[in-house]
Amino acid sequence: MTPKKKGSSAKEQDPAMVRVDRSADAGKVDQSTPLVPIIRTEDLSVSYGDFQAVEDVNLDFGKNEITALIGPSGCGKSTVLRSLNRMNDLIPTARVSGSVHYHGADLYSEKIDPIQVRRHIGMVFQKPNPFPKSIYDNIAYGPRVTDMKVDNMDDHVEQTLRRAALWDEVKDKLKNSAIGLSGGQQQRLCIARAIATNPDVLLMDEPCSALDPVATLRIEELMIELRENYSIIIVTHNMQQAARVSDRTAFFTVSIDEDSGDRTGRLVEFGATSHIFIDPSDKRTEDYISGRFG
Ligand SMILES: Nc1ncnc2c1ncn2[C@@H]1O[C@H](COP(=O)(O)OP(=O)(O)OP(=O)(O)O)[C@@H](O)[C@H]1O
Ligand SMILES: [Mg+2]
Repeated sequence: MTPKKKGSSAKEQDPAMVRVDRSADAGKVDQSTPLVPIIRTEDLSVSYGDFQAVEDVNLDFGKNEITALIGPSGCGKSTVLRSLNRMNDLIPTARVSGSVHYHGADLYSEKIDPIQVRRHIGMVFQKPNPFPKSIYDNIAYGPRVTDMKVDNMDDHVEQTLRRAALWDEVKDKLKNSAIGLSGGQQQRLCIARAIATNPDVLLMDEPCSALDPVATLRIEELMIELRENYSIIIVTHNMQQAARVSDRTAFFTVSIDEDSGDRTGRLVEFGATSHIFIDPSDKRTEDYISGRFG
């Protein structure tokens, strides 16, 4: 996989908006580019007990695209993300309604095994969370527990670490504990662990929020490389990051019911990142992106 050329600032006009500064190949789509969905949600709603956290989300996530989910705290970004690989199953009070289709199959059908779902749709969390095991075993773990057929585990570990742009830094210490790596290396290890089971979708929930700017840039470059083979959905509070790496952006907000005061997350607008950041259709999106609220 050849690393993408680092790009210069975009030339677009962005008066009050976040300066759109993207890598040359990020944001490769515009509003007219057809979207080939790999995941599609239909009227997706999630509640925790009696609390309706998000309602009626209809979204298509593009194959080999990076989709950013943005919006103020509490609007349900993580909730939506977790519903895409059935991580919400692990929260006893969470209830999901509507549907999530992956390659046309309903992920919430009784016939579907959530463990297999998570093998195909991997997840990377906010805080790097390597297992307290060796670097090698962090990668080998997923294939082993999912009984994945691997001809030669040493080769698989090497290939996976190469794809996550970590091999050169760790090849001489594969038996060392993963906990000894730097934060940025740990997060690339977690990305490697997520891709070790050959998923085709990667979900990332604020994957750079615990990292310094250099490590953040490294992860962003990696995401753009990985996009060739994976579809990536990233939650981020960093507007620059969404503008730099994503092809399409979904903006969520919290709507507050005037009578009951209930706060429910809703999708406001979805489109090509270039459109959302430069010429959004909804005033709420514009206000959020330009820092007027949220
Ligand atoms: N396990 C849970 N139990 C009960 N309520 C929850 C749970 N997880 C989230 N919520 C609530 O659901 C709503 C959406 O939360 P969520 O974490 O998805 O928001 P978010 O957009 O990811 O916010 P942030 O940007 O702060 O991470 C919030 O009101 C939150 O308090
Ligand atoms: Mg969140």
